[in-house]
Amino acid sequence: MKKESTHPPIISWEGQAVGLLDQTLLPHEEKFILCDTLPALWEAIKSLRVRGAPAIGVSAAYGVVLAAELCRTMDPDVFAREVHEGIDYLATSRPTAVNLFWALERMRGCLDSMAGSGVAQQKAHLLEEARRIEAENNQVCETLSEAGANLLKDGFRVITHCNAGGLACGNFYGTALGVILKASEQGKRISVYADETRPLLQGSRLTAYELHKAGVPVTLLCDNMAGHVMRTIGVDAVIFGADRIAANGDTANKIGSYSLSVLAREHGVPVYVAAPLSTVDFTLSSGELIPIEVRNSAEVAGFAGIRTAPEGVEVYNPAFDVTPARYITAIITEAGVLYPPFEKSLGRLAPGYSTVS
Ligand code: MRU
Repeated sequence: MKKESTHPPIISWEGQAVGLLDQTLLPHEEKFILCDTLPALWEAIKSLRVRGAPAIGVSAAYGVVLAAELCRTMDPDVFAREVHEGIDYLATSRPTAVNLFWALERMRGCLDSMAGSGVAQQKAHLLEEARRIEAENNQVCETLSEAGANLLKDGFRVITHCNAGGLACGNFYGTALGVILKASEQGKRISVYADETRPLLQGSRLTAYELHKAGVPVTLLCDNMAGHVMRTIGVDAVIFGADRIAANGDTANKIGSYSLSVLAREHGVPVYVAAPLSTVDFTLSSGELIPIEVRNSAEVAGFAGIRTAPEGVEVYNPAFDVTPARYITAIITEAGVLYPPFEKSLGRLAPGYSTVS
């Protein structure tokens, strides 16, 4: 049976502001905030009020609509220059999730295609494009979830890392959690181990919240328990999302995904990455080239404003790691389930690919 959406709205265009469900407050408070300036939206992306690669992309697309609405000029050239500046500014918010740049570049292309038109017409066109990006993203998430669900058999015990659910995508299904939701809609009994995902606990705060609400059995684990669970209880699949996938299949995702994949290999557990094609960066030949966000030391040295580490101690806080393609069993996309060698299976889906040589 199809699961009903239990989410409050996650991202919406509110006329003069981008509306967001503040994910830093979940699961205790479902608060919708309005970002009516570009710095407010930039801060919301930076501080993970909106997070997850596809959701960052959709909110940034509406951010461009906001940049346009905030322009007071009626001169099309001045307008275009100011919106371009807004796009460049939003692009500085977070470096790893390629969906941010993908969505901003689509909005830039839309703006450029309207050069010479009146300001009101350009604003309307930008809003249409942002709405199209959102609608396509929703469809793509559902399609890939359906494609991946066939990989999960009745009774499967699955480990997931971070949050690749609806919250991360601005819709109901999401990606990795969408695969799980679709499999359970098909009547399969799927149970999930959710890594808590230090330092910011997306697994505990968000994945457990989403699966619990959807009625999917979920058991919370500290990140360092996965190996023990694989060895003593048994796990049938690892599934997580992606922030950026290189052309060879190397995948950047939340820090800890790499260690989980290495453990899975040791225990003969398949590793599935679920992501839309907008997360594939065909310009990068390998994961070595993916920029990894290094975040504030306070996130590791304490939690919720309470310091837990000694004052003055050195902290390293990379937010993502790269799982080499050799650890990945398959990549689940809206174009179907792709298998190694990913250079070929992904390559065939690259923009401009042609079978005619
Ligand atoms: O730092 P975050 O919370 O934005 O990191 C999110 C992740 O790593 C997700 O797993 C990834 O974006 C996939 S979301 C469908």
